[in-house]
Amino acid sequence: MVDRDKSSETSKDFYVDVPAETPGFFLKGSAHLNWGMKNRLSRIFNPKSGNAVMLAFDHGYIMGPTSGLERIDLSIPPLLPYTDCMMCARGALRACISPEVDIPLVMRCSTGATILKELSNEVIGVTVQDAVSMNAAAVTTQAYIGGEYEKETLGNLARLINEGNLYGVPTLGVTAVGRELVRDARYLGLASRVVAELGVHFVKTYYCEPGFDEVVAGCPVPIVIAGGKKIPEPDALAMAYKAIDQGASGVDMGRNIFLAEDPVAMIQAVRAVVHDGEKSDKAYDLYQTLKHEKE
Ligand code: R5P
Repeated sequence: MVDRDKSSETSKDFYVDVPAETPGFFLKGSAHLNWGMKNRLSRIFNPKSGNAVMLAFDHGYIMGPTSGLERIDLSIPPLLPYTDCMMCARGALRACISPEVDIPLVMRCSTGATILKELSNEVIGVTVQDAVSMNAAAVTTQAYIGGEYEKETLGNLARLINEGNLYGVPTLGVTAVGRELVRDARYLGLASRVVAELGVHFVKTYYCEPGFDEVVAGCPVPIVIAGGKKIPEPDALAMAYKAIDQGASGVDMGRNIFLAEDPVAMIQAVRAVVHDGEKSDKAYDLYQTLKHEKE
């Protein structure tokens, strides 16, 4: 019995003169979350920089074998050493990504629509329990604010938040934009705020100008930006820089990384912006240097 061990009693030290720290938490709006939530968020967002480079390759769930993702097993693994967090669908993960990778995952949980039909007509197809069984650090679906199935997609998001709260699994709220909606600060600010008030733990939305700083300020939880359609590499890096400079907590980028002329160089240049605050021209220099090193 431990309390009969006198030698160990004499070695006790309670450091009575050292008050226990009551630290806060590095992520916006997250101080009152439980330990499991904070631990998972700390895997996604780097506690030193406060930011994250998320790699999105979930496009196939609505688009099929889209350009750059025809062979996820070939295009994505070379990028993983530079990735803070993967965002993908269950089937792609299981079939194409080695379970030996030690990178957190945001699991895409929605289904029900393809590019052939109305995109907002989605349901939840992956339970939080199954996402947890695949060691997801967070779950996600998108809300089509102003879209035809706005209510249903908010219901999907609410379901993930409610189930995730039971297991300490954060939810990423994606603000999807219907074809007819303008991606301006008024709309993105509204969409981001709505999903944050519903209870998502971080938000993915688009960069916009002017007014992205107000989108960030009006959203009480961290925002990461989607990359959107492929644009020239210097422009994508400039967009990432402006977003970080105006308060974004990272990127959740897909096409502008895996469709870059040199995806491995591109993700490293994006990292320099997101984690080191590198300006976009310097980051583009880095991109070119890394690209030419291989030639
Ligand atoms: C939206 O949530 C999509 O499924 C993609 O994950 C998203 O569009 C990010 O990829 P990209 O940077 O290619 O826009």
